[in-house]
Amino acid sequence: MNENRPVLVTGASGRTGRSVVSALAKTGLKVRAFIRRPEVATEMEALGADQVALGDLFETESLADALAGCGQVLHICPPMHPKETELARTVTDLCQRHGVGRMVHYSVLHPLATDVPHHARKLAAEQYLVNSGQPYTILQPARYMQHLVPIWNRVLETGVHDMPFNVESRFSVVDLGDLADAAAIVLSGDGHDGATYQLAGPQALNQRDMADIISEIVGKPVQARAKELDEFRKEAAAAGMAAERIETVCTMNRHYSAHGLTGNANVLRWLLGREPTDFRTFIERDLVGK
Ligand SMILES: NC(=O)c1ccc[n+]([C@@H]2O[C@H](COP(=O)([O-])OP(=O)(O)OC[C@H]3O[C@@H](n4cnc5c(N)ncnc54)[C@H](OP(=O)(O)O)[C@@H]3O)[C@@H](O)[C@H]2O)c1
Repeated sequence: MNENRPVLVTGASGRTGRSVVSALAKTGLKVRAFIRRPEVATEMEALGADQVALGDLFETESLADALAGCGQVLHICPPMHPKETELARTVTDLCQRHGVGRMVHYSVLHPLATDVPHHARKLAAEQYLVNSGQPYTILQPARYMQHLVPIWNRVLETGVHDMPFNVESRFSVVDLGDLADAAAIVLSGDGHDGATYQLAGPQALNQRDMADIISEIVGKPVQARAKELDEFRKEAAAAGMAAERIETVCTMNRHYSAHGLTGNANVLRWLLGREPTDFRTFIERDLVGK
């Protein structure tokens, strides 16, 4: 894409945003990071952002100011936000009003799983964008491998891999680094308008498979266990998670217990031009010895 105008990245200071800002900066595209906390501006610049725009995503005026003059927008909504659909509609409308060349919408694998509230909200956001006439690309990432990071030390200490869903449910877990590279390829390349890309990892693993892989890597036994939802609720409340979000996560986990979340890695493989990262490689790269 021959474009001198910057790419606005919303949710830039989050887990996904940081990875994407860093990957995008390496393509040579100018990056404008939308942040709400001035104190993260220096970190954004260190990651490669050329500009920061300060504001609140839910204040249309600050969003409009941030978006003005941008060639593309990568919209990453705060996770499980009750106003996700409304926000996506506003971003879509602003893109049209400001002549933004393409809106890249960061969605989720299988938004059609509408029993999960944030999937339903992402589906409605996709519908609005597709019907709007705004040039777009939709990215539908699977569950991140990086969900292992916060529990890694506990897994090593206890020898138990416990997430709050069935140990048999399968997930095409995907590496956030691969997702960031894929987003950067889409934003820096032509030919992606009107596309909806399912971005899933190369293996459909359940908790038992994950525990076995960890066990082989660390050389000690690791068991898989389905954490009870009430146990999850207590831990999440103690960690300060809002009650509404806790219940959304529980609904998601009930869906995961029943159906897992699997997809196909072919599109990610094609976009990256290489084999997507597998679970073992991710652990050896990001967790072992860290
Ligand atoms: N985790 C997964 O496995 C997975 C899989 C597929 C899709 N996704 C999707 O990925 C997206 C991003 O998830 P994430 O884990 O990267 O989120 P995250 O780390 O929680 O980051 C959220 C970002 O939104 C910002 N933010 C929140 N409220 C804001 C406001 N009112 N105004 C401006 N900025 C605001 C936060 O800013 P602060 O830094 O100031 O808090 C942060 O930068 C979500 O939509 C999620 O559904 C995740």
